[in-house]
Amino acid sequence: MSRAFGYRAFGGPEVQFYFDRPDPRPGDGEILIQVRAIGVARIDHMLRSGLVRALNGHLPFPQVMGMEAAGDVLAVGTGVTDITVGDAVFGFALSGAGTYAQTTVLPAANAARKPKALPYEWAATIPVSGTTALDGLDRLDLPEGSTLLINGVGGSTGQITAQLARSRGLTVIGTGSDSKRAEAEALGVAFASYTVGDVVEQVRNVAPAGVDGLIDLVGGDSLRSVAALVTDARQLLSAADVAVSELGGEYLPRRLDRASLETVAALMLNGTVDPRITRTYSFDQSAEALAAVETGHTAGKLVIAV
Ligand SMILES: NC(=O)c1ccc[n+]([C@@H]2O[C@H](COP(=O)([O-])OP(=O)(O)OC[C@H]3O[C@@H](n4cnc5c(N)ncnc54)[C@H](OP(=O)(O)O)[C@@H]3O)[C@@H](O)[C@H]2O)c1
Repeated sequence: MSRAFGYRAFGGPEVQFYFDRPDPRPGDGEILIQVRAIGVARIDHMLRSGLVRALNGHLPFPQVMGMEAAGDVLAVGTGVTDITVGDAVFGFALSGAGTYAQTTVLPAANAARKPKALPYEWAATIPVSGTTALDGLDRLDLPEGSTLLINGVGGSTGQITAQLARSRGLTVIGTGSDSKRAEAEALGVAFASYTVGDVVEQVRNVAPAGVDGLIDLVGGDSLRSVAALVTDARQLLSAADVAVSELGGEYLPRRLDRASLETVAALMLNGTVDPRITRTYSFDQSAEALAAVETGHTAGKLVIAV
C-alpha cells in the first residue's frame, strides 16, 4: 500500500483527500516508480474539476491527482527492456495512475532516464511545462532574429519558453500582470503588462509591425486581445484554448515522447533552461500547492518533494 492524494468525485478542492491504495502494477510497457518529486500543473485541477473528461471521465474514483513526476524504478512490466529497476526516471503518467502518490506507474515510452546531475525536482517539471515549451518553439520553427510573443510569460511554461526562445536567438516579448515584470526582464524578455496600461499598445511599441510567432498560455479573452498581433495567423499557437483554431491558429501539438523529455533534460543540464522553481512543498502540502496554481497567477513552477 502507498499513500496518494486525489479526489472522490469531480468538483472543487472540497473533493480532494489523501487515501491509501495498493501499489499499481506495471502493465505491458509500463514502469512502477517510487515518486520523489511531482510537478504541479494547471491540468491537475482541470482534471479534478471534470473539465477535460475526455482524459479521465472513464476512470473510477477515487482518482489520483497529477500528470508529471520523477522517481526511482521499483519494477518494470513486460516489454520494457530499456529501463531497469533502480534507474532514476521522469515522465508523464498518461495511463491515469496519477503522480501525487508515493508510487505510481508511467508508460515507459513517455518516460526517460534522469541524468544523475539533474535534481528530481527539476526533472519533475519537464513533462508538462518543459516539453510544452520545446514543442511550441519547434512547431513555430522561427529563424534567429524573429520576434516571439508569449502570452502569459510569468508562469511555469512561459518562463521556460522564454529562456529557450532567447537561446534560439529570438527577440521575446511577454505579457503578464505587472508582478511578473522583474522576473521576465531578468530573462531578457520585453515585458507588456496587462494590469498597467494597454497590453497591445505595449507590444506594438516593441514590435510595430507585429510579431512573427505567438505562443498563448492564457486563452479566452486574453488570447483574443493579442491574437491580431501575429503577422501570420498560422504562427499562432495556444496551449490553453482550443478555440485558437477560430482565430486561424493551432492548438499547440504535443509529442509527449522520450526524445522531448531527454532534450529538455539536456538543456537544463547545460544551463540553457532553469525550471524557475519558486516553491517546493512537502507531500502533506499537496492541497496548498495545487491551490496556489489554481489561482491562475503563479510565478514560475511549483513542485512537491515526496
Ligand atoms: N496542452 C498542454 O499540453 C499544456 C501543457 C502545459 C500548459 N498548458 C496550458 O497552458 C496554460 C499555462 O500553463 P502554465 O503551466 O504556464 O500555467 P501557470 O504556471 O499557472 O502560469 C500561468 C500564467 O499566466 C499569467 N496570466 C494569467 N492571466 C493572464 C493574462 N490575462 N495575460 C497574461 N498573463 C496572464 C499568470 O500570472 P499573472 O496573471 O500574474 O501574470 C501566470 O503566471 C494553462 O492553461 C495550461 O493548462 C497546456
